[in-house]
Amino acid sequence: MTDLDAFITGLPKAELHLHIEGSLEPELMFALAKRNGVEIPYASVEEVRAAYAFTRLQDFLDIYYAGAMVLRTRQDFHDMAMAYFERAASDGVVHAELMFDPQTHTDRGIAFAEVIEGLLSAMAEAEAKHGLTSRLILSFLRHLSEEAAFETLAMAEPWLDRIAAVGLDSSELGHPPVKFAQVFAAARAKGLKLTAHAGEEGPPEYVYQALDLLKVDRIDHGNRALEDEGLTRRLAKLGMTLTVCPLSNLKLCVIDDIARHPIDAMLQGGLKATINSDDPAYFGGYIADNYRAVAAARGLSREDLVTLARNSFTGSFLPAEAIEGHLAAIEAFVAGHG
Ligand code: HPA
Ligand code: ZN
Repeated sequence: MTDLDAFITGLPKAELHLHIEGSLEPELMFALAKRNGVEIPYASVEEVRAAYAFTRLQDFLDIYYAGAMVLRTRQDFHDMAMAYFERAASDGVVHAELMFDPQTHTDRGIAFAEVIEGLLSAMAEAEAKHGLTSRLILSFLRHLSEEAAFETLAMAEPWLDRIAAVGLDSSELGHPPVKFAQVFAAARAKGLKLTAHAGEEGPPEYVYQALDLLKVDRIDHGNRALEDEGLTRRLAKLGMTLTVCPLSNLKLCVIDDIARHPIDAMLQGGLKATINSDDPAYFGGYIADNYRAVAAARGLSREDLVTLARNSFTGSFLPAEAIEGHLAAIEAFVAGHG
């Protein structure tokens, strides 16, 4: 391990943009398919990995939803989340905010309780075992209707005290944030935080809508906001957190080369960017791989890496005292790596 690798791994960090279904590695997919008697259209783990060649978001989503079909019981959701937490802990993640897509499961007859109870038990185990805290973000699928999102929010009602926020994911183009303005307002009225994918494939207009119509607390991705100088200035002034996912951007052709990733332009423009893995089983790396990729490709300094890690806590949905504690831990780590 190089000094930089050790620095990246050791740096205390939060992961704010992680779809738990996107952490399902092919090996576990096969094991769950066997356990549940579910057919999958691949003969081997190698064949699955070979299918992970995407030119746009929808190519990925088709495979990601098919992969999720092997998940049936709360034990499955527990095992998937635990596998993620083990990887995250070994990458120096001390807090994670997990998105999950209930509709992907409830629409094929899996009870909401099975999904969330499996995730919650893994979250408790990760905290007990690694001191890794976590929160849940219930994400609405934007290719479905707002009415369906309302039904999902109603299903979540008994667990609302264990859900930090709602999110918005899936096929961005053609499904602008405005489609979900009412359900986001309802979620806000219930005391939930709000985040939405915007400006991954969609235009800057979708980022404006996420701000003005959804009134989000964070923007997931946000890359295309950079096409609009006024919007970039506004995001910087607001201190709006962007949950950026470099290897995802590369795999989904949001950028054509990691050497042209705009992470340093974001930081120089005063944007509160963070580094995240999005769907690590599909995009070729966990959070430390993402830090390493942009550090190497864009020549990020240690100071930049520390800024990114600090942003991951100040942009989290943790209470202020917990954030202060994590920032102090970063200071202590940096002091020990002078
Ligand atoms: N973008 C949109 N929807 C998603 C993603 C993503 O990267 N991952 C899982 N759902
Ligand atoms: Zn995402």
